This record gives sequence, C-alpha cells and structure tokens, in this order.
Amino acid sequence: MDKVAGSQNDEHYTPEYAIRPIMKYLDKDKIKTIWCPFDTEDSLFVKIFRNEGFEVIATHIENNQDFFGYPIGNLPLCDAIISNPPYSLKGKILERLFLIGKPFAMLVGVVGLFESKYRFEMFRDNFFEILYMDKRIAYFKDFKEQKPSVNPPFSSVYVCSQLLPKQICFEKIDKKKGNNFTLLRNPATQESLINASQNNRNPLTKLESVKS
Ligand SMILES: C[S@@+](CC[C@H](N)C(=O)[O-])C[C@H]1O[C@@H](n2cnc3c(N)ncnc32)[C@H](O)[C@@H]1O
Repeated sequence: MDKVAGSQNDEHYTPEYAIRPIMKYLDKDKIKTIWCPFDTEDSLFVKIFRNEGFEVIATHIENNQDFFGYPIGNLPLCDAIISNPPYSLKGKILERLFLIGKPFAMLVGVVGLFESKYRFEMFRDNFFEILYMDKRIAYFKDFKEQKPSVNPPFSSVYVCSQLLPKQICFEKIDKKKGNNFTLLRNPATQESLINASQNNRNPLTKLESVKS
C-alpha cells in the first residue's frame, strides 16, 4: 500500500465533517498554535482551526515546504501537528512524528494500517491513541467541489499522540452539520451569508437560518 508514493491517491482533501470530531480534544489551554504540514491555505483544517481561534501554520510541498525537509531542531513553532497526510507516505510520516515528540493527530485510512511489518513494529514501539469514527469518509478531489466525490469512501481514523484522554476514543460523524465551510464555497450561499450576518461576528452561526 505504501508503494503508491506520489500517486493521485495522495490528492484527497478532507471534508469538514471529518475534522469536527477531533476538535473537542484540542485543549485550548495547552494548544495555541497548530502546524498543518500537508496543507495549503485552501485546506479546511486550516480554515476551521483558524475559525476556532487557533494560530495555524500551513505548509505544503507545493510551496516548496517538504515535511521531511524540516530539521527536527528547527521545526515551525507549534503546540500540535494535525493534518491528513499523503497516504503513500503515512508510515514514514508517523515515524517522523513519533521522533519529533509533539502532540499530533493524523487522519489516515485504517484498512491495512497495522498490516505492514514496518508499521506494526512502529506502533508496537511507540505510544499512540486512536480516534475511531462511526462512518466512512468521502474526500474531495478538488477544493472547488461542493460535495466530496472520492469513491468509495475510506474507513479512516485519527492516529494521535498525547492528544486523547484514552488510548481509543469513539466519535460520531454528523455529515449534515459538518458542511458549513463547503457551503461557503458556493458564491450564492456566500452572498446570503454576508447579508444575514451583518450584525453577527461569526457568519457560520447564521448558516442554519440562511439554509432554512
Ligand atoms: C491526502 S492530501 C490532504 C491535504 C490536506 N491536508 C487536507 O486534508 O485537505 C496530502 C497532501 O500532502 C501533500 N504532500 C505530499 N508530500 C508532501 C511532503 N513531503 N510535504 C508536504 N506536503 C506533502 C500532497 O501534495 C497532498 O496535497
């Protein structure tokens, strides 16, 4: 599974409903700045974390910011590292994150996750937590999509370190509620939101009334 390096399998973008489940585990007393190392400014991780009041450092290979190019002693200053990494490199990325030693959460496909000898040994030798979700995740092929179109959806989990209160946590996904930022991409919705939210500092809170 790790042999598809650089393939199109790496270009899947995360929908909001898959990001919401990790939010309640981000302790704002401890986490001020989040590094999203596989993310451009279009990433919903970046937009949602900022909207929730976190400082976000977004870096991406497309901007000549190779995750593996940062020396461990000279990483972006952050309190946690959170993203959906390129699937073809997930073993190497998790290995480096364990070495870095900061709290992290990486959204990865769970099928076959423990089946390679290399990853099996890495998980055996490092302490980690898993956030399990009750539904499979459909990803976007393109940030302009209104609905995630990657089929079939993937069974995905957050592999975490130093973030969850127990080694395995479970969260339900709400595909309907977790769609605000996608709706915001639609110019018609954007215009309605701007009108509806003139007296409101957070336009997203008005979204339900705009839709009804
Ligand atoms: C599965 S996608 C997820 C993108 C984004 N994190 C999201 O969830 O919407 C992984 C992204 O990592 C980028 N990438 C691949 N190798 C990388 C590297 N060495 N350093 C930084 N980004 C990389 C890919 O181009 C791809 O856009």
